[in-house]
Amino acid sequence: MTHSTTHFDRVAADWDSEPRRVVLMRSIAEKIVRVVPLDREMDLLDYGCGTGLLGLFLLPYVGTVTGADNSPGMLAELQRKIAAGGVERIRAIQLDLERDPVPCARYHLIVSGMALHHIADTDTVLRAFHTLLHPGGMLCLADLDTEPGIFHPAEMDSVVHHHGFDRAEIKRKLLSSGFSELTDATAIRFFKPVAGRQDYEFSVFLITGRI
Ligand SMILES: C[S@@+](CC[C@H](N)C(=O)[O-])C[C@H]1O[C@@H](n2cnc3c(N)ncnc32)[C@H](O)[C@@H]1O
Repeated sequence: MTHSTTHFDRVAADWDSEPRRVVLMRSIAEKIVRVVPLDREMDLLDYGCGTGLLGLFLLPYVGTVTGADNSPGMLAELQRKIAAGGVERIRAIQLDLERDPVPCARYHLIVSGMALHHIADTDTVLRAFHTLLHPGGMLCLADLDTEPGIFHPAEMDSVVHHHGFDRAEIKRKLLSSGFSELTDATAIRFFKPVAGRQDYEFSVFLITGRI
């Protein structure tokens, strides 16, 4: 089990009780709905899905949602929601594209919200996203713009591999992984209390690409 899995397993049960997280994922979903042509024939992969917030917001617009995460605890929360709500067309799978072989399934759309900065080897995962898409499929990456390393508390250091990202750098990586038609936009800006400082304004990008 990785450090990351242990941390997210521990916080899974309380994840959705922080309203900021729900607002953030709803804003990202709304931005995706505005900029990506969605339809009910699409199979969507939500990578680093956590408790499934982003995938569940997008479920009404697509055919199926697969929520993938490497944390059994987070996936158990998504599974609990699926069972409790009788939610159909969504499933939860354990997957770590840094380490696991790329599955055989293919998707029309891959979304990932606030997961990439927890992934050390982003190149491997971006290449796997390319493999997992049908021809013409789209990728939507939402994550923090470069920040001064204050978004997470110090006790999360072992599971934070990037202090946000430079958009141009991510787009260069996507180009070299085979993506084209790259776009970037700001999905949301928000203030968050930060230890020992006044609230700090963070921003989250939405980068899209097509294969
Ligand atoms: C900040 S949470 C975001 C969860 C969800 N997208 C949301 O915003 O509610 C990051 C998620 O990425 C997952 N994660 C971290 N590293 C991963 C990896 N290598 N493969 C799959 N999931 C990973 C964590 O388990 C966690 O659920």
